[in-house]
Amino acid sequence: MLSTLFGSIQSKSPRRPVYSLVLWIGLTFVLVAASTYFLSQTRPAVDYFTHREEEPEPPANRTNPLLTKEGIDQFVLDHAYPRLGEKTNFTGLHQLCNSTKWQTHVYFTCSHNAGGLMNVRNMVLNCVRYAIAAGASGLVLPQIEARDQADLTHLRTEEYRNMGFLFDETWFKEVMKENCGQMELFDTIEDIPYSGYAMMPDVLNIQAIMEQPRGSKHGALRNKKPWEFRSRFDNLIKSQKRRPTEKSPVIVRLDDRTLFSFPPTFDPPSVLNSFGFILDFRLDLSALANFIVDRVHQTLNASAGNDSYVGLHLRSEPDAGKYWATWDQLAEATISTAVGNEIKLIYVASGDTDGVAKLTKKAVDSGIQVLDKWSILSGDEKEYLAPFRFDQQAIVDYLALMRSDRFVGSGQSSFSSHLLMRRELLANMTLAEEGKHLEPGSVPRDQLAGPGRLGYWDMDWP
Ligand SMILES: *[C@@H]1O[C@H](CO)[C@@H](O)[C@H](O)[C@H]1NC(C)=O
Ligand SMILES: *[C@@H]1O[C@H](CO)[C@@H](O)[C@H](O)[C@H]1NC(C)=O
Ligand SMILES: *[C@@H]1O[C@H](CO)[C@@H](O)[C@H](O)[C@H]1NC(C)=O
Ligand SMILES: *[C@@H]1O[C@H](CO)[C@@H](O)[C@H](O)[C@H]1NC(C)=O
Ligand SMILES: *[C@@H]1O[C@H](CO)[C@@H](O)[C@H](O)[C@H]1NC(C)=O
Ligand SMILES: *[C@@H]1O[C@H](CO)[C@@H](O)[C@H](O)[C@H]1NC(C)=O
Repeated sequence: MLSTLFGSIQSKSPRRPVYSLVLWIGLTFVLVAASTYFLSQTRPAVDYFTHREEEPEPPANRTNPLLTKEGIDQFVLDHAYPRLGEKTNFTGLHQLCNSTKWQTHVYFTCSHNAGGLMNVRNMVLNCVRYAIAAGASGLVLPQIEARDQADLTHLRTEEYRNMGFLFDETWFKEVMKENCGQMELFDTIEDIPYSGYAMMPDVLNIQAIMEQPRGSKHGALRNKKPWEFRSRFDNLIKSQKRRPTEKSPVIVRLDDRTLFSFPPTFDPPSVLNSFGFILDFRLDLSALANFIVDRVHQTLNASAGNDSYVGLHLRSEPDAGKYWATWDQLAEATISTAVGNEIKLIYVASGDTDGVAKLTKKAVDSGIQVLDKWSILSGDEKEYLAPFRFDQQAIVDYLALMRSDRFVGSGQSSFSSHLLMRRELLANMTLAEEGKHLEPGSVPRDQLAGPGRLGYWDMDWP
């Protein structure tokens, strides 16, 4: 199983430095880097299909071990395990794929996934779910459209990155191969045989296939008849001039309207509660998150003797909707949660630096300390995290909030809303392991401030 696979990685003992080996590795690295650079210079900028961009290598900086390959690999081994998904029971997915009627020469790509971290996650999951529903014979590894660094409201940048930009690609491949091996995985679209001769060159829209209004707002994209998708898809394939064959395959490229489109509750609980775990976050940032949580616990143990902390998603950045939870509501809810539970520390995730400073000041009156990822990490770690994009850095916050004892978020934020759902699922799993159930009427550990929860919260995979 997967645990043995990762177990073998984990149990590797650290190697002694062998200097000539280091020299050779260094030399090879320079050669590979140089040839990669020259190859990238000769590649067309954007071709007809989206392409696969390699992650830029971090600059060599011997004074910061995290900026070396060996250093970050060791950091991952020390802090990234066990993974969230390792306990997941994928039997439901296995059965779903086993009972699917698979096509031949029909492939799916999932490249137009743009937006905040949780929205991208949802879009990728939905696209993969539609590929399974369609019985696609193959799937190209999903890609992510990175949002504009300078203008976070600019989503459709056409800057396509590998799924490794946010997610653990190795994990995804292993889980899919093991549980849904009927659908072959391809690294790039060019790896599909005769991809240059593919039928259906236009991007496809789920709402058009379902003959629903296109819908522009989040939550308006819900597939109202998911059970009809397969027959409608099959009709679409039949309507092509030719049947798909090896030399003229069908390559489906879904557009960006997969967001909150597939209703997860269409699937039985065995799929509903496991499908989200086919995506796990990239290992280096997962390790950094675990490292942060350990440090929070140490901080607390040193002072208060109680290592619980409240996680707060302070979604009060300028782009938050006007009717969303305000800073006051979020601060109020968080501090009263901390006071009520005798918790002495708040971990805050926010892009609103003034808001964090204000909260820090206010919490002092109640003897509560406020920390965020930047105040917890030291120089080397900050230097590693700082160059990452906004949505990549959000992984660290997401996982640190996931592990908090209490959580307060903004009711209208899909990031907060998803955290609430995932935390509840994990708590349920822990209770089930202990042979218990959530007591009806028990005090919830988490809350969303503001005017209610976003209307389509049930459209995300826990
Ligand atoms: C897969 O489906 C077949 C019948 O279609 C069944 O005999 C077999 O047991 C199933 N395998 C799993 C692992 O569910
Ligand atoms: C995994 O899930 C399947 C069906 O959803 C169930 O029959 C099986 O007992 C579960 N396995 C474990 C180890 O919990
Ligand atoms: C905190 O202190 C308790 C008791 O001294 C100890 O059992 C526990 O492992 C400590 N936790 C951490 C995270 O250091
Ligand atoms: C420690 O924190 C938990 C938070 O869930 C709280 O219930 C408990 O009363 C606290 N204990 C002490 C000794 O402060
Ligand atoms: C290397 O790391 C050190 C310590 O983190 C930092 O002060 C320095 O600016 C870095 N140098 C380069 C060239 O990035
Ligand atoms: C957790 O369990 C409760 C009670 O059994 C259930 O109502 C709830 O839907 C579960 N939550 C999730 C996210 O699965």
